[in-house]
Amino acid sequence: MADFRFSNTHAEWMARDAKSVMGWRYDPPIVFRGGKGTKIFDVDGNEYYDLTSGMMSQTLGHAHPEIVEAIREQAELLCHESSWYSNPWLIEFAELLGSTLPGNLSVMDFAVTGSEANEVAFRMAIAKSGKFDIVSVIRGLHGGNLAVESVTTVGGARKHSLGPLLMPSRAAAILPPLCYRCLVNLTYPGCDIGCLKTSEQLMEFTTTKSVAAIIAETVPVSGGMIVPPKEWLPRLAMLARRWDAMLVLDEAQLAPARTGKMWGFQHYDVVPDILTFGKGVSAGFAICGAITTPEIAAEVRGKCGLPWAGTYTGDPFPAAIALKQLQIVIRDGLAERSGRMGAHLRARLEEEILPFGIIGDIRGLGLYQMLDVVEDKRGKNPDPAGAERIRYNLMMEGVATIAVRNMVRIVPPLIITEAEIEDVVGRMRTAVKQAEAGYPRDVDFSRSSSLAAEAPVAAE
Ligand SMILES: Cc1ncc(COP(=O)(O)O)c(C=O)c1O
Repeated sequence: MADFRFSNTHAEWMARDAKSVMGWRYDPPIVFRGGKGTKIFDVDGNEYYDLTSGMMSQTLGHAHPEIVEAIREQAELLCHESSWYSNPWLIEFAELLGSTLPGNLSVMDFAVTGSEANEVAFRMAIAKSGKFDIVSVIRGLHGGNLAVESVTTVGGARKHSLGPLLMPSRAAAILPPLCYRCLVNLTYPGCDIGCLKTSEQLMEFTTTKSVAAIIAETVPVSGGMIVPPKEWLPRLAMLARRWDAMLVLDEAQLAPARTGKMWGFQHYDVVPDILTFGKGVSAGFAICGAITTPEIAAEVRGKCGLPWAGTYTGDPFPAAIALKQLQIVIRDGLAERSGRMGAHLRARLEEEILPFGIIGDIRGLGLYQMLDVVEDKRGKNPDPAGAERIRYNLMMEGVATIAVRNMVRIVPPLIITEAEIEDVVGRMRTAVKQAEAGYPRDVDFSRSSSLAAEAPVAAE
């Protein structure tokens, strides 16, 4: 099998990165310096499809001409200001984002990261209810600040050795609707969503019974693209109501328009009390936030440090770029397009990739799909090393993606065309075939992001 050939300059960048930058890196630790549309370019000029849309944030791909123009214009106008004053771009962005939402979700408290947005949601829920327990769903990821890390349950090394910095609320977690490997050994639809019935018992026995909020990713993505059956979210909302708890939905991975709807929860018959956004809505320029109703906003103002505002929250620069991106997403009907292109992508993956013995399942919504890589189809045992081999081979085929544990992500910019999907699926077939044959054989993946997260860490 051919292997990577990097120039001396590229190898030098990699060595300098390893020496001076503390970050997770895959093998090979490719250094990028350009991007256009669905492609990203390394420092040698090699082209790769960007199947991660940056960090799931470049909704319109790289260097979209209208976004580039908006960046130029805004750079000359106003980039940063005191977050205790406002600006027209922020107000318009808030109004436009609100106009895409059902119910009365129209007031937003902005943040810089998705983690911060979820912590703002916690502040809102605690301020509204006067209660403290936050219940989360196992395999959910809500960020890396310590409060949200406490309710993040995707496994790996991220929580190791943090000891008392994590809050006790980490114990209050309920079961995910992972039908492919059902945690209560039932089969949908006959199960009558048994995982949720068990979950109510978990809440009964693991919380203080004083629950401020249930937080869930509408589709738990990092925990394995757990697309819930249609009944799960409505019943979770009912559970929240029975417990007089707020329902917080985290859509950092899903919005806008990626799943075939503007918001992921629009696939289900629910409206959350608080909704958080990041990544794709931010257009890659770090404008995230928590959205709630005017009634809740009025009630929580002045409590629990709300409204939340830091140095960069609601800055004119990211607001203007996110506004421009959202205008384009709406103008070009990208939610509907993602549904259509996603259905095509999924059908092609099922035809060409699912038949391989190491692909147990393909899950996802719209233009966010994942390969569940297994030792074999019958046993369904997750195979993270297999996922790493696929990721490595995909890079060699000119397709950049990420593997997290045994899952390989397919998250292209929403502008991807049918011809590009066809090209990507063809390259993927080659990559998976090589991985199934055991290639690459001599690459040490132990420091690669997804497997390093599995490594044992010093005792807590
Ligand atoms: C669902 C979800 N929520 C929140 C976050 C945290 O976002 P950020 O990295 O911007 O803090 C992530 C990050 O991956 C995420 O996937």
